[in-house]
Amino acid sequence: MDAQKFWDKNAERYAKSPVRDDQIYQEKLSKTQEYLTTGSVVLELGCGTGTTALHHAPRVKQIIATDISNNMIEIARKKAREAGIENVEFKQATVEDLSAESASFDAILALNLIHLLDDPVACIRKVYGLLKPGGVFVTSTVCLGDRLFSFWHILIPAMQLLGKAPPVQYIKRAKLEKELANAGFLEVFTRPAAKSEAAFIVSQKPSS
Ligand SMILES: C[S@@+](CC[C@H](N)C(=O)[O-])C[C@H]1O[C@@H](n2cnc3c(N)ncnc32)[C@H](O)[C@@H]1O
Repeated sequence: MDAQKFWDKNAERYAKSPVRDDQIYQEKLSKTQEYLTTGSVVLELGCGTGTTALHHAPRVKQIIATDISNNMIEIARKKAREAGIENVEFKQATVEDLSAESASFDAILALNLIHLLDDPVACIRKVYGLLKPGGVFVTSTVCLGDRLFSFWHILIPAMQLLGKAPPVQYIKRAKLEKELANAGFLEVFTRPAAKSEAAFIVSQKPSS
């Protein structure tokens, strides 16, 4: 099943499922806000049902939040209407097809996304181009490549055959950090975490 079909099919269920570890999620939200200001123009890639974008909205100027799944975007728009939040524009767009002006964002978020893309390196390079000098890229990435002998390596292909898991890349954290550096980013924060937790990294495009 392709990614769009998978996420459209699972959007309602995703919207209802609780955050896996709320304490870690809150920690990541707070850390992200250290890099946002009331003047920030933010892009979120793979925003899902919009929870994170709607959380940050009151603290920034504008957020464009995008996702491959129309169903995810519909749920996110409904949540924004119900919360009376008007500075988030939810748009259906894939990372691959997204077009925006170069150097137009102060911050770009990709949370639980990069390992789901066919070409994570192309995404990192695209993000670099879309950020203003000094802008930050906030990522949280499941690094399945570091869990070499875990049962996920058997379970995921079986679940994919049954349409119960999306296409994924078995990324290693070290490779992710190397590709961020290769694109030109400076690492400004990384959350120490067990291999079973997502790698939360804040990278910055140099100011000049
Ligand atoms: C695991 S969910 C994460 C959602 C949200 N960022 C969060 O942390 O809760 C992954 C999201 O990425 C979206 N997605 C997957 N592939 C994508 C692509 N190529 N372009 C844009 N969004 C994509 C899915 O539709 C889904 O909403």
